[in-house]
Amino acid sequence: MSEPRFALIQGASRGLGLAFVRRLLEDSSYERVVATSRDPEQSPGLAALRERHGKALRVEPMDVTDELSVASVAERVARDSTRLHLLVNCAGILHDEKDVRPEKKLETVEPGALRRVFEVNAFGSLLVAKHFLHLLRHPQRAVLANVSARVGSIGDNRLGGWYAYRASKAALNMFTRTLSVELGRRAPNAICVALHPGTVDTDLSRPFQRNVAPGRLFDPDRAARQLLEVIDGLEPEQSGSFLAWDGAPLPW
Ligand SMILES: NC(=O)c1ccc[n+]([C@@H]2O[C@H](COP(=O)([O-])OP(=O)(O)OC[C@H]3O[C@@H](n4cnc5c(N)ncnc54)[C@H](OP(=O)(O)O)[C@@H]3O)[C@@H](O)[C@H]2O)c1
Repeated sequence: MSEPRFALIQGASRGLGLAFVRRLLEDSSYERVVATSRDPEQSPGLAALRERHGKALRVEPMDVTDELSVASVAERVARDSTRLHLLVNCAGILHDEKDVRPEKKLETVEPGALRRVFEVNAFGSLLVAKHFLHLLRHPQRAVLANVSARVGSIGDNRLGGWYAYRASKAALNMFTRTLSVELGRRAPNAICVALHPGTVDTDLSRPFQRNVAPGRLFDPDRAARQLLEVIDGLEPEQSGSFLAWDGAPLPW
């Protein structure tokens, strides 16, 4: 029998993150799934999964823009799991209920919104890596997956716009690549990748779904399944790469 696996999904209150948690809880090779979100009590999706799966699901409050919050969750998780086999950084914003709107032109660029988007989409994932590194250093295979976006590709940017979101995902991609080099030395069994989930039917994409080709808007469950297939198939030499939902490499 293979060893039980442990996973942590950060940004799990809804959308793609919640779909990852649901899928992993149904996968008997995972003994425990930790789901983090800013305020888990406000997530009906997590409440339903808790009711159904009991102790197999552990829910922790984590705001990735607050390093203390990231560090304290890492400390609590390490008390009862000494290793993680999968860590998915999923939290991301394109717009919010306050001042963050994807910019169509230069005049709408706002320093506060730029900072906020970078904090959540890029810095947050790196802080999570920093505080959870010790749980990825073990003799078994581990994967750290940062959920990025194709629009973060510099080489593929033909449309322009969305300054903050695009640049934050490009920064996340650079963090992923840089981290993969360090993990190669410090956690050689850990594979670290940036993944594009495709366009997924969530709150994030809802205002922008009009031009999505038929059949190319994935429901969150399908998107999570596709990315988990990519994750399961990763080879160690793919660490540091940027891959799409179908496993195809994407240009930086
Ligand atoms: N949907 C798409 O088409 C698409 C395409 C490409 C890439 N992506 C990427 O996929 C990931 C998931 O997005 P989604 O579509 O599932 O979006 P979503 O439904 O809007 O969910 C976003 C998640 O991020 C969390 N979050 C926001 N700010 C946070 C913070 N400061 N700390 C911790 N969590 C925070 C939200 O938690 P709260 O409930 O607390 O706000 C929520 O769980 C993102 O990284 C996104 O950029 C999505």
